[in-house]
This record gives sequence, structure tokens and C-alpha cells, in this order.
Amino acid sequence: MELDKSVAVVTGGASGIGESVAKTLAARGARVVIGDMDLKGLERVAGEITAAGGQVAYAKCNVTSDEQVADLMDLAIARFGAVNICVASAGIIKDGLMLNTDKETGKVKKAMTTEQFKAVIDVNLVGAFVTLREAALRMVNNGWPGVLIPISSVNKSGQTGQLNYSSAKAALALWPKIIVGEFQMKGIQNIRCVAIAPGYVGTPMVRGMNQDALAGLLKGVHIGRLIEPEEIANSIAFVVENDSMDATCLEITGGLIANGLAK
Ligand SMILES: NC(=O)c1ccc[n+]([C@@H]2O[C@H](COP(=O)([O-])OP(=O)(O)OC[C@H]3O[C@@H](n4cnc5c(N)ncnc54)[C@H](O)[C@@H]3O)[C@@H](O)[C@H]2O)c1
Repeated sequence: MELDKSVAVVTGGASGIGESVAKTLAARGARVVIGDMDLKGLERVAGEITAAGGQVAYAKCNVTSDEQVADLMDLAIARFGAVNICVASAGIIKDGLMLNTDKETGKVKKAMTTEQFKAVIDVNLVGAFVTLREAALRMVNNGWPGVLIPISSVNKSGQTGQLNYSSAKAALALWPKIIVGEFQMKGIQNIRCVAIAPGYVGTPMVRGMNQDALAGLLKGVHIGRLIEPEEIANSIAFVVENDSMDATCLEITGGLIANGLAK
């Protein structure tokens, strides 16, 4: 696929990885549509893309809403004539232990609530499903070349304190094999699917973490620093331009050896 002939829809495009992906793809000639709950952030990112000479449209969009996601895809078609690249980057965290006990009594003082678990699954898993489905069905029905990109995370070991988030991200890492397998069953060859599994990236989501916990996590990272959002965005551009990348999950971790392994 050629970026300057492609239209990209990016959810979570008002911040972090989604913002960087939108800017990177636009800088390389793609026409970009960004969706997010954060309208002010969308306006800022779209303004910066336009100022840099890129082509962009945006709409407020909650990825858990079928209608709003469908509207976002239709905006891309109305403004730019197609949907070719779909990056599902919208995501949230609501961390906590399943059971948090009191140091003195050893009894449970707090538990992860069902709402806390479901909220993360809703945005990170169901939202990604709705996003990729709405993009893919338009690609299939119009015969457009396409690539679907769910954003997983550290997905093999999981992360303590993130039972909800790790559950969603482990599932997303499996999707390329399943989705592409289904396309293969149906003779659909114009759409690829590649998941991206970043390690710890320097976005608001991670920079807002407890700094001691973050320093501990970085001890297990070979390059010894947070990954820049642009490094993820450049990798996504590489995936788009290389048709041989398909049905796989690409880990971009800076050499994550194990959670919190001391140097
Ligand atoms: N930062 C990391 O280290 C890291 C690592 C691995 C995976 N990821 C994943 O990358 C993606 C982007 O994360 P980030 O670090 O850029 O976070 P971020 O918080 O900077 O950006 C996430 C964006 O998603 C938007 N969003 C949240 N809920 C939404 C909803 N219901 N509908 C639409 N938009 C919504 C937010 O408004 C925000 O703009 C997430 O899926 C995250 O899980 C991040």
C-alpha cells in the first residue's frame, strides 16, 4: 500500500500513540480522519496536521458506540473517498489489584469492581472490535485495499494491577490470525490485519503512572527508556507499506525482558 494514496482512520487520535500515528501518516501523504472523545484534543491535533500541510478531518466519537464509529468511517468516505487504514488506538486504564489487602490485618480492604473491569473491556476490546468491523465491512463492500491495526500491549506475561487491561490486550494480540483466517475462508485478499504490541511508551497514559512503579518497570527494558510515540507511529507506517506484513502481532518493546527484572 502507498501512504499517499491511502485514507486512514485513527481512533484515540487526540493523544499519545493515536496522535502520533495521525501526524506521521499525514506527513507521509495519507489523508487522515481522527476520532476521539476529547474534542479539544482533536481540534488541536487536526490544527497541527493542517498547519504542517496535511489533510485531516475529525469527529467526536466514543468507540463503544456502533453509530458513532460508523459515522466516523462514513466521514472518511465523504471527505476523502475511502477507508484503507484503520488504527484502533482508543484506550483507557483503570488499574488496581483484584484484591487489595490491609497490611496489618491481612483482610481485603478493596477489590476491583465489576464496573472497573467492564469499563476497560468495553473501550479497549469491544471498542476495537466495533472500530475494525466498521472499517472492514466498508473495505470489503467497496473492494478497497486495507489494513486493520489493533493496538495490543505487553500481552504474554500480563501485568499485575491490570487484570482488566491485560485481558483485553492479550485478546487483541490474537485477532490478526483470527480475522485474516476468516478473510482467507471467504476469499477476501484485499485486507490485511497486523496488531502492534508496544512496550512502555511515553504518552500521557504512562507518564501519569506512579513514578516509582514506572522506574521499576523500566529496569526490565533493555534500551532503558520509554519508547517514543513516533517510534510506534513509524512502525505502523512500515506495516502499511509492506504488504508482506499480515496476520501477525508486532512487538515493539525496546527489549522487554521480563516485568521488573532488576539490572
Ligand atoms: N502508552 C503505552 O505505553 C502503551 C503501551 C501499549 C499499548 N498502549 C495502547 O495504545 C493505545 C493508545 O494509548 P496512549 O498511551 O496513546 O494513551 P492516551 O491516553 O495518550 O490516548 C488514548 C486516547 O484514547 C481516547 N479515548 C479513551 N476512551 C475513548 C473512547 N471510549 N472512545 C474514543 N476515544 C477514547 C482518549 O481520549 C485519548 O485521547 C491504547 O490502546 C493503549 O492501551 C499504550
